Amino acid sequence: MKTSDRFLSYIAMYKLKAISIGFIVMLISICAVMSVPLLERIIESMGNKDTNSMIFWLSMTIVVYVIRSFAAYAQITLSYSLVLDIITNLRMDLFSHLQHLSLDFYDNRESGKTLSVLLADIQMIRLTLTEIFIKIFRHVLTPVGLVAYLLYMNYKLTIILMIIPLMMTVLFKKSRVIMRNASRKASESSGQIASFFQENIRGAKVVKGFGLENIQMQQMKIINHENVECIKKEARVIAIQDPFLFLAHVIASVIIIGIASAFIISGEMTPAELISYLLGVFLFIDPIREISKLNILFQRILASAGRVFELLDLKPSVIDKPGAFALNHVKGKIEFQKVDFQYQDDRSQSLTKIDLVVHPGEIIAITGESGAGKTTMVNLIPRFYDPIKGCILVDGQNIRGISLRSLRDIIGIVPQETILFSGTFQDNIAIGKPGASLEEIETAAKLANIHDFVMQQPSKYHTLVGENGAFLSEGQRQRIAIARCFLKNPDILILDEITASLDENSEKLIMNSLNRLLEKRTTFIISHRQSLLQLADRVICLDNGRIKNYAES
Ligand SMILES: Nc1ncnc2c1ncn2[C@@H]1O[C@H](COP(=O)(O)OP(=O)(O)OP(=O)(O)O)[C@@H](O)[C@H]1O
Ligand SMILES: [Mg+2]
Repeated sequence: MKTSDRFLSYIAMYKLKAISIGFIVMLISICAVMSVPLLERIIESMGNKDTNSMIFWLSMTIVVYVIRSFAAYAQITLSYSLVLDIITNLRMDLFSHLQHLSLDFYDNRESGKTLSVLLADIQMIRLTLTEIFIKIFRHVLTPVGLVAYLLYMNYKLTIILMIIPLMMTVLFKKSRVIMRNASRKASESSGQIASFFQENIRGAKVVKGFGLENIQMQQMKIINHENVECIKKEARVIAIQDPFLFLAHVIASVIIIGIASAFIISGEMTPAELISYLLGVFLFIDPIREISKLNILFQRILASAGRVFELLDLKPSVIDKPGAFALNHVKGKIEFQKVDFQYQDDRSQSLTKIDLVVHPGEIIAITGESGAGKTTMVNLIPRFYDPIKGCILVDGQNIRGISLRSLRDIIGIVPQETILFSGTFQDNIAIGKPGASLEEIETAAKLANIHDFVMQQPSKYHTLVGENGAFLSEGQRQRIAIARCFLKNPDILILDEITASLDENSEKLIMNSLNRLLEKRTTFIISHRQSLLQLADRVICLDNGRIKNYAES
């Protein structure tokens, strides 16, 4: 489907509001057109020295403008509401789509680029659409009505007047493509700016620590310059349109006055008719100039909507197979059968021929050098990624046939890099079991040895943890992640370097709780620490994506 049709389908979802706006716009246009014959009647009454008739037509003019004002109020209110409906819908569609995209999307795409679509492009669509609905739509029908009336008044003059829309069409044809490309490039470079800003805010410590401030400034200058150039290109197209339309207006008016004077001399037209005709011309020009902006605004919307639809069209790489079934509880036997895995086509293979059987309740430790593929291997169990060859079975079932939701429900992960959300301690632990009671949360926190720390906080479990747990130490964040797993109580547990950032004392306390956490669950422990390796029934060592050796612990 074309971007424009697809975007229109979003407007079509709110037919009633859109049609109501259409009717109101018609009313506004009728009021605008009526001012021409009204002025003619007023001038005529003046000429006839008929005061009563003049008062009548003046009052009628006020009535028409009062109606127009009320109609304009209704149009503005409805337009805002329609635009907000469309934007909310678009934003929700985007967000829910992003929730369903697989991790490879997040690996491969700069987050700033995605954010800029969610924020900048949606904002651009909102502002532009508001301008179109509020300012411009009311002008769309006015010229049509005016031309009909002007044709009725004097068709010869009106044919000459048509020079303006003709010039406009020629101008628009050329500018349309330039405008769309310039808008698209401007949006893309805004995305680049968003990415760069985001990286610099997140990486502030590195920038300061390595004294990169000036280098980053230089880089920003380059990106900013590119953005400015794109916007300047867009501005040039806008700048050409308005003065040329104005020129067309002046030329048409001069020609009309010249010809009209000949008509007045020959008696074909009265001065009152000429004045009201010129008012009609004047009223015609303004909407035409506004409508000329419509082209620019449409191109802007299409450029931004194109980027939104591009995101919406991405398909998640890991999805439920048709007929995928749900698992409730499993015994926890896990088999890797000749599993090969590669992140992207152009990268080297991260895992090769992984063959492994883990028995229910077994604790298996994975060691190996950094980059050996330990995290990658365990990430395949909840299907964060799918192997390129081979398969993984849980209780003898290929995980590709199990519904993603139920598969992930039976697996608890304490990842290498803890992610916290900017809520309270309670919110962050409850992630393990949405809707858990405070009592359950406290029990989990006690087991993860974070309860005492939380109780020292000013609002206890209701204390905010800051963005990604900014107010906490690495060890405290990890213990929150462990508490989530106690709360989730999964059949399969994955612990990725959970004690790497803990001091000896915290590690001891965690070890005590781990003994309870690991009871009767199949567990993968990625670690180099002897204390943790001791908990394992078996230790495997990965080397460059292959299992090097097995050892009983
Ligand atoms: N998201 C990703 N996209 C592309 N390549 C990746 C990605 N994550 C990891 N890799 C690559 O896959 C290989 C295995 O990485 P992995 O994170 O599994 O190593 P690891 O054994 O867990 O290392 P560490 O002990 O440092 O955590 C590495 O060569 C790495 O460069
Ligand atoms: Mg790792």
